[in-house]
Amino acid sequence: MAVVFLVLAISFIVDIWGEPPKRVIHPTVDQANFSQKPARTPALNPIYVKDGYSYRCNDCHSVLEPSDVQKSYISAHPDVILEHGANNYCTTCHSPDNRERLLDINGYDVAFDQSHKSCLQCHGPIYRDWEAGVHGRMNDYWDTERGPTRKLTCVECHNPHQPKFPDMQPSPAPNINNYISFLNQLMTSEESHASR
Ligand code: HEC
Ligand code: HEC
Ligand code: HEC
Ligand code: HEC
Repeated sequence: MAVVFLVLAISFIVDIWGEPPKRVIHPTVDQANFSQKPARTPALNPIYVKDGYSYRCNDCHSVLEPSDVQKSYISAHPDVILEHGANNYCTTCHSPDNRERLLDINGYDVAFDQSHKSCLQCHGPIYRDWEAGVHGRMNDYWDTERGPTRKLTCVECHNPHQPKFPDMQPSPAPNINNYISFLNQLMTSEESHASR
């Protein structure tokens, strides 16, 4: 027995197994990844801003002939480039008779702040998931006794004209130290909310 221990002790002293594997230190997670800010700010009112002036759509469109010709770019609206696959007519979503309204699945018009009803024309299954809270995201409060839950609408994430998301970098693996300091920060900001 003593001999076994002696051999073990010597083996530890001369360190025949070498160094233990290095601990991997993950990079810290960027705080921006915890932001609740929606990806984009959509036009919720039919207002068109050009050269610092705001117009109602019908300031111009009440005198323009409606056009349902297929176009993906119109020089009058240079910010709009339509890249939405086979959905390549402006008038699948915009009412041809009233530019201040969008179209729903039955061809009735809907307000700009109800644009999800226009997406329902073609994205039924995703729409159903979104209604159930499975697609997209909730903001604000989970516990409705503390405040309202807000469901983000389709166009707060997807540009209706170019709905494809740009490629994203995945976040690094969780860094437990950083996570704890993040939780602490969250708790103190929650407390300051509650004490207000
Ligand atoms: C300063 C004038 C002006 C304003 C304001 C304006 N538009 Fe236009 N828009 C135009 C012109 C000009 C065209 C091109 C018409 C054509 O090619 O027949 C156009 C074309 C369009 C088209 C393509 C279909 C078509 O009729 O040719 C859509 C859709 C459209 N506008 C939507 C809007 C919406 C929505 C708003 C408000 C958010 C708006 N526009 C505000 C001038 C305007
Ligand atoms: C998939 C549906 C859809 C199609 C197709 C579509 N739009 Fe839109 N458009 C919307 C929605 C929804 C909004 C309001 C929400 C927002 O701005 O994100 C909007 C907003 C606009 C606006 C006002 C805001 C801005 O960006 O200036 C203009 C102008 C406009 N569209 C023009 C056009 C033109 C021109 C076309 C065709 C080349 C077109 N749209 C095709 C859904 C669509
Ligand atoms: C007229 C039918 C139609 C309407 C209305 C419509 N879409 Fe689409 N959408 C399509 C088609 C077709 C595709 C497939 C595009 C492709 O082949 O790349 C698509 C693709 C998409 C994609 C996936 C893009 C990608 O390549 O990853 C998103 C996101 C999307 N639509 C969002 C919306 C939103 C938001 C609205 C409402 C503002 C909307 N769509 C309205 C027909 C429609
Ligand atoms: C909180 C943000 C958010 C909201 C709100 C949201 N989406 Fe998405 N959606 C996403 C993301 C992220 C993806 C995945 C994008 C990717 O894989 O490139 C996606 C994917 C999609 C796709 C492509 C699905 C596929 O199988 O490729 C469609 C179509 C779509 N969304 C439509 C909608 C419609 C319609 C609504 C509203 C009823 C909506 N989205 C609401 C974030 C959102």
